[in-house]
Amino acid sequence: MKCKKCSKKAVIRIRSHGISLCEDHFTEFFTKRVKETIKRYSMLNEGDRILVAVSGGKDSMVLWDIMHSIGYPVEALFIDLGIKKKLQSERARETVKSFATQKGYKLHIYSIEHEDNFTIDEVKIRETRNVCASCGLVKRYIMNKFAYENNFSVIATGHNLNDETATLLSNVLSWKIGYLARQHPVLPSQGKLVKKIKPLCEVSERETAAYALIKGIPFFSEICPYSKGATSIVYKRALNLIEYQSPGTKLRFYREFLKNAKPLFVSEHEELKDCNICGYPTTFPPCAFCRLKERMTG
Ligand code: AMP
Ligand code: FES
Ligand code: ZN
Ligand code: ZN
Repeated sequence: MKCKKCSKKAVIRIRSHGISLCEDHFTEFFTKRVKETIKRYSMLNEGDRILVAVSGGKDSMVLWDIMHSIGYPVEALFIDLGIKKKLQSERARETVKSFATQKGYKLHIYSIEHEDNFTIDEVKIRETRNVCASCGLVKRYIMNKFAYENNFSVIATGHNLNDETATLLSNVLSWKIGYLARQHPVLPSQGKLVKKIKPLCEVSERETAAYALIKGIPFFSEICPYSKGATSIVYKRALNLIEYQSPGTKLRFYREFLKNAKPLFVSEHEELKDCNICGYPTTFPPCAFCRLKERMTG
């Protein structure tokens, strides 16, 4: 298998584009696609201060590195959730910290145990609700609060095409109109809610993994030890099967949804109020984070 652009040995075949590429040309191809995504969805403006949320998983590690390579001086935030099972948080934190040191990248670490006096392990023990849902809400809240308080204008997360299409398929299958109306790789800022972007939304998980391997970017398994996303895994598998039979389906599904279908869905306007405890926006004060924190520490 030879590279389509030169005669060197190809290391990857991209079936959705019908090409095989060598390491250098794959790096160039991947970088170009990320740059195009940023441009296509007008993700960034001159003078933006960008915070990359890094979990230690391959997607956010690749995002952190590629943003630097394409010339954005981003800073990163790792949220230590205090998950001791399989030393998840500790191992993820070490992966992120050593990469920051190796590359000279700026990294912030926020420990919920130190700052908020509880851990996700304690949530798992004490709450009956699915722990991953609470964990997701904690992550979103902290990312936003940290970015807002430190004057970042944009938060970038590592969601890739597989994540985005799995969410889309799940929302379509149960016709979640409100979610469909809001699903977009750019969520604009609104009051104290900082703008959020997903620059990897048009590259697949396999391509991100290949980029990490070629560039020697270390990463840590992102699978949550409390087995997050059992259902999203099923959607991902189904989409992989379709993609295998008909390469390019995922990208088409996603792009055409954003271009042609999403405008047909209208979400109900949800009025945001200020949380009476922390002051951050919420539909029902006190906000879900403050209520969780109160239950855990009160
Ligand atoms: P997940 O919610 O685990 O699917 O992760 C989605 C994205 O959220 C990742 O690509 C990261 O950008 C971000 N993220 C997840 N976990 C963390 C964490 N512990 N600290 C900072 N960012 C995170
Ligand atoms: Fe964090 Fe499952 S506990 S995602
Ligand atoms: Zn080549
Ligand atoms: Zn609050």
